[in-house]
Amino acid sequence: MGRAGFDIVRSTNNRGGVDDFIPFEATMRAARAAGLSVGDYIDEVMNGTPGATRSTIDELRALGVFAADPETVLEIGPGSGRYLEKTLKECSPGRYEIYETAAPWADYLVDTFGVVARPTAEFSLAPTPDGSIDLVQAHKVFNTLTFLGASRYFFEMARVTRPGGRIVFDVMTETCLDPATMRAWATQGGAGHDSYPAAMPRTACVDLFATLGCSLEAGFLAPMGVASTEVLVFGKGA
Ligand SMILES: C[S@@+](CC[C@H](N)C(=O)[O-])C[C@H]1O[C@@H](n2cnc3c(N)ncnc32)[C@H](O)[C@@H]1O
Repeated sequence: MGRAGFDIVRSTNNRGGVDDFIPFEATMRAARAAGLSVGDYIDEVMNGTPGATRSTIDELRALGVFAADPETVLEIGPGSGRYLEKTLKECSPGRYEIYETAAPWADYLVDTFGVVARPTAEFSLAPTPDGSIDLVQAHKVFNTLTFLGASRYFFEMARVTRPGGRIVFDVMTETCLDPATMRAWATQGGAGHDSYPAAMPRTACVDLFATLGCSLEAGFLAPMGVASTEVLVFGKGA
């Protein structure tokens, strides 16, 4: 194939399985053409939610998440790295691990930010030892995974967080699903793969993490698609 002028590459398109992400080359090209960073291009142009990443990071800063000066950070599904890049402007961890199924994006993040890509295996963080991470985060991931995938990752997130560490992720809870919003999703939302947007009950999350030694410290809304998700911040008991 190579001699015939073709390369075999892994397909990444936003209509494929949930372990694919938006196409790498085309997105980078479009961001460059728009004169924007890839993160700002996704916020402003692709998602129509300018400043969305910035506002979540600002909220996390106000809650003291970065003041703890995390030495180890782990992010599930960083994609383009729009949260990763801004996180690295807020703190200087010695080690930043990612679990990302879209290979071209994972490679780009390793090359650009010096993060460590861990092998993904379904919804496991097995390569990361227990109690080794100060800040575990995932943004806009659990509204694309199935209930079981998200739940399996929740157990893993609690396991790898060190006592005194924080866990941050967003989910589309009942707080984000009043009748008018459900109508908006039903009539306008959902382009992409079938599991988007997936909902997750807030109480189930909070109660589960409580049994894993992690208590809810804060929650706030962040824009997503036609509506929002709820960002939950947990602290693991020391
Ligand atoms: C909707 S995107 C969000 C990307 C990024 N966090 C953001 O907000 O721009 C979901 C991300 O999760 C990744 N992903 C899907 N399944 C995954 C899995 N099982 N483990 C880790 N990452 C996964 C996708 O490749 C994609 O990068």
